[in-house]
Amino acid sequence: MATTVVLLLILLHLLVAKATAAAQRQLPVARPRCRDRCGNITVPYPFGIGAGCYRDEAGANSLRFELECDDGRSPPRLVDANQKNQLADLSLDAGEARAYLNATRHCYNSTGGFAGRNTNKAYMTLLGTPFLFSSTKSRLVALGCPNLGYFVHGDGYYVSGCMSVCRPSQEAMPGPCTGIGCCQSEIPPGLHFFEPTIRNFPRGGEDFSFYSNSTPCRYVFLVDKEWFSYTDRVFLNRTDDFDVPVVLDWAIRNVGNCSAARQNTTDFACRGGARSDCFDVANGPGYRCNCSQGYEGNPYLDNGCIDIDECEHKENYSCYGVCTNTIGSYTCQCPPGTSGDVKVKSGCRPDDKFTLALKVVTGNFLKTTSP
Ligand SMILES: *[C@@H]1O[C@H](CO)[C@@H](O)[C@H](O)[C@H]1NC(C)=O
Ligand SMILES: *[C@@H]1O[C@H](CO)[C@@H](O)[C@H](O)[C@H]1NC(C)=O
Ligand SMILES: *[C@@H]1O[C@H](CO)[C@@H](O)[C@H](O)[C@H]1NC(C)=O
Ligand SMILES: *[C@@H]1O[C@H](CO)[C@@H](O)[C@H](O)[C@H]1NC(C)=O
Ligand SMILES: *[C@@H]1O[C@H](CO)[C@@H](O)[C@H](O)[C@H]1NC(C)=O
Ligand SMILES: *[C@@H]1O[C@H](CO)[C@@H](O)[C@H](O)[C@H]1NC(C)=O
Ligand SMILES: *[C@@H]1O[C@H](CO)[C@@H](O)[C@H](O)[C@H]1NC(C)=O
Ligand SMILES: *[C@@H]1O[C@H](CO)[C@@H](O)[C@H](O)[C@H]1NC(C)=O
Repeated sequence: MATTVVLLLILLHLLVAKATAAAQRQLPVARPRCRDRCGNITVPYPFGIGAGCYRDEAGANSLRFELECDDGRSPPRLVDANQKNQLADLSLDAGEARAYLNATRHCYNSTGGFAGRNTNKAYMTLLGTPFLFSSTKSRLVALGCPNLGYFVHGDGYYVSGCMSVCRPSQEAMPGPCTGIGCCQSEIPPGLHFFEPTIRNFPRGGEDFSFYSNSTPCRYVFLVDKEWFSYTDRVFLNRTDDFDVPVVLDWAIRNVGNCSAARQNTTDFACRGGARSDCFDVANGPGYRCNCSQGYEGNPYLDNGCIDIDECEHKENYSCYGVCTNTIGSYTCQCPPGTSGDVKVKSGCRPDDKFTLALKVVTGNFLKTTSP
């Protein structure tokens, strides 16, 4: 009994020791002596809060990576220093951020007269920031009917729009946002300004069915397409103001691509040397960095890419044998006296002389040798 307790204690001690060892291996996020969080939002370099903590760009195409954190609010509020857009999330790997936007709302009374609209700021500009609206993950949505929603770019030209029509019976309305009560359209890449417009259709025509089942309020907004699920029908009858998340893509954009950026080693944002890679981005000009295979961390920081100890997570690297970590890689071999496929579970089999002995012992010898 006593021995069991002691054994358990030893085991527990070993487990705790191992857990602390793993926790001590902190991956770099921000520059030294810089804060790396605003509330529960991680702020990775090249973004930063306070002087010396963010990527400082010089020249005509320079963009501002500086962020501000208002700790006075609960939860603390993170905004970009240039346009004060509120940010909810920043990702190094995906090169994305999430921002919040107020939906544009127009409401009408039962006879079609104007009955009110949102008064909050519903446009968004990303000018001077490294962000662009994500053309792959964000959609323009016009909600309610009848509703023509569209928006213009900074230069006043139309960019995208769609039309949502009503149907006589609510029951007959299909679930997804495909033009009945709700419509959506894709947006082009390279977009840094969004100002939505709602076009009303005054009543008075003979086309009764055009207005039947019209919704009291109509909305237009840019939104993360994953988040917005029109199957969630409660959206349709809304009359209030609400915020929507929109996905932004960021990149180092003062130089158009990697090959041009490599020309100036002091300005080049990928700081990991041979341990980091540079790749061109698809949305707008610019490039991003990632740590090379075998390394993890923050490729935008000097010495920010750290060797991955693959042997700590053997299963994830399908190593079912003796694992040895090396800088940037690892080796995996069957234990001595065995051989086979070390990449599959139980793939290492005892070498032949052992196999024979084992088979005899377990009585399998006769089974496997009989025809
Ligand atoms: C941060 O906290 C808020 C609530 O305070 C929560 O809704 C949100 O999911 C959290 N975000 C992350 C990234 O943990
Ligand atoms: C939306 O509007 C409200 C005021 O109605 C404001 O408090 C809030 O910050 C706005 N949200 C955004 C993302 O601008
Ligand atoms: C609807 O609004 C219009 C214009 O604002 C007004 O003239 C009309 O009386 C309103 N109708 C009802 C039923 O409230
Ligand atoms: C919207 O409101 C109308 C009238 O109140 C109601 O008949 C309809 O069921 C509502 N639709 C949804 C999806 O809640
Ligand atoms: C990279 O940018 C430079 C300068 O703008 C341009 O001349 C070059 O063609 C670009 N290279 C690629 C691969 O796009
Ligand atoms: C290289 O980048 C640094 C820092 O941004 C800048 O001061 C310098 O002028 C650049 N050099 C050239 C040749 O463009
Ligand atoms: C780095 O990014 C490139 C381009 O997205 C990708 O092909 C590559 O697999 C990434 N490397 C690592 C180690 O994640
Ligand atoms: C290992 O893989 C599992 C499942 O794919 C994943 O949930 C986990 O985060 C991975 N662990 C590491 C350290 O990469």
